[in-house]
Amino acid sequence: MDLFAYEGGTLRCEGVPVGDIAADVGTPTYVYSRGTLAEHLTRVRDAFAAVDPLICYSVKSCGNLAVLRALVDLGAGMDVVSGGELHRALAAGCPPERIVYAGVGKRDDEIAAALDAGIHLLNVESEQEFENIARIARARGTECRCALRINPDVDPKTHRHTTTGTKETKFGVDIERARAFFRTYGHDAHARLVGLHLHIGSPVYDTAPYVEAVRRALALRADLQREGFEVSVLDAGGGFAADYETGRSPAAADYAAAIVPLLEPAVRDGLRVVLEPGRSIAANAGILLTRVQYVKRSGDKRFAICDAGMNALLRPSHYDAFHFIWPAEPRAGSVPTRRAADPGVAGLEPCDVVGPLCETGDYLALDRALPVLERGDLLAVFTAGAYGMSMASRYNSSPLPAEVLVDGDRFSLVRRRETYADLVAHEG
Ligand code: LLP
Repeated sequence: MDLFAYEGGTLRCEGVPVGDIAADVGTPTYVYSRGTLAEHLTRVRDAFAAVDPLICYSVKSCGNLAVLRALVDLGAGMDVVSGGELHRALAAGCPPERIVYAGVGKRDDEIAAALDAGIHLLNVESEQEFENIARIARARGTECRCALRINPDVDPKTHRHTTTGTKETKFGVDIERARAFFRTYGHDAHARLVGLHLHIGSPVYDTAPYVEAVRRALALRADLQREGFEVSVLDAGGGFAADYETGRSPAAADYAAAIVPLLEPAVRDGLRVVLEPGRSIAANAGILLTRVQYVKRSGDKRFAICDAGMNALLRPSHYDAFHFIWPAEPRAGSVPTRRAADPGVAGLEPCDVVGPLCETGDYLALDRALPVLERGDLLAVFTAGAYGMSMASRYNSSPLPAEVLVDGDRFSLVRRRETYADLVAHEG
């Protein structure tokens, strides 16, 4: 699952007790494991080896430069969705030919930056956007490769906020319109339409929606090829789940077992496959460390009030997401045997784990079975590497957390904690 484990009564990330990190850099702090990032990238690569995909890690899931550099060093490409993410990917040393760029609302300056960098693929989401890309490429006397993002109208059975491949969402172009799209734009000399893109949602716990979406994309490709269009790339997006609860999510190998057999004949026929996994690589590679400031009881409720809340990790309040939370230095007899609502420890009591912000929605967990907690206890919020820091905010003028990367028995500060001076640096 990952390289965070309780050993000798304390939680370690690889060889480092996380308590040492908190003592050194304070809390709240995100801690990432380089070894886990590598392990999960390798799992996706090995699982899909038969179709030799270009794996473009989704920068939005965790865009810290040190994390990106580690993945680039391991051969990953990058999936970006903004000029800012493109800047990060290039700053991390990602070769442009390994960068793909999606997003419904690319601005002219963002398109120009992508063209200047010479990235692998611009994933186009509408007729107007294609015309704009072609116009900008023509004006710059350059050309680029584009893939049409199709909306396969497949329900990924995930949270409605992160469902992207159904008709009522803003993403992509209906399959029915895709043929007309190629007929109109498929011969542009500057914006060359070379592929198809899809991304159905995130996280997707079932392999069936992928099978359906990829089937539809391959059928469309066959139709388009019959019409004389060469469709040499299929970017199948991301969305593979992460292990938020022990053993709950399919492994990369499960997704691959369902999808690879569909792709293999097309790959033999010259198709290049791109994948955009984010969460399945980064989520289990990170935890959030937070310290209990106060414990209070109100009626029969128990609250652990921490120095991190929805500002540091939005997922619980925004998506009702489950993140396993446990003391980093548990008292005797309370080391969990699994990460789940029932962690396999006796004598637990419900507790709301909340943040310091002035909102009732500011929580990390509600009614969670937890052991005795005391002021000063260090808590680890697990599987927080993806969409944790990247969605953090400064709400209530909270300085952004620090980020630390662990490699073996060493750790380095890869983003210092913000100061109050940072908070006001762009104002006035
Ligand atoms: N490709 C595209 C076009 C995407 O929109 C996304 C995620 C990905 C790839 C990566 O998906 P992943 O492999 O990480 O599941 N904030 C939400 C997740 C939003 C995902 C948005 N798009 C969360 O915290 O669950």
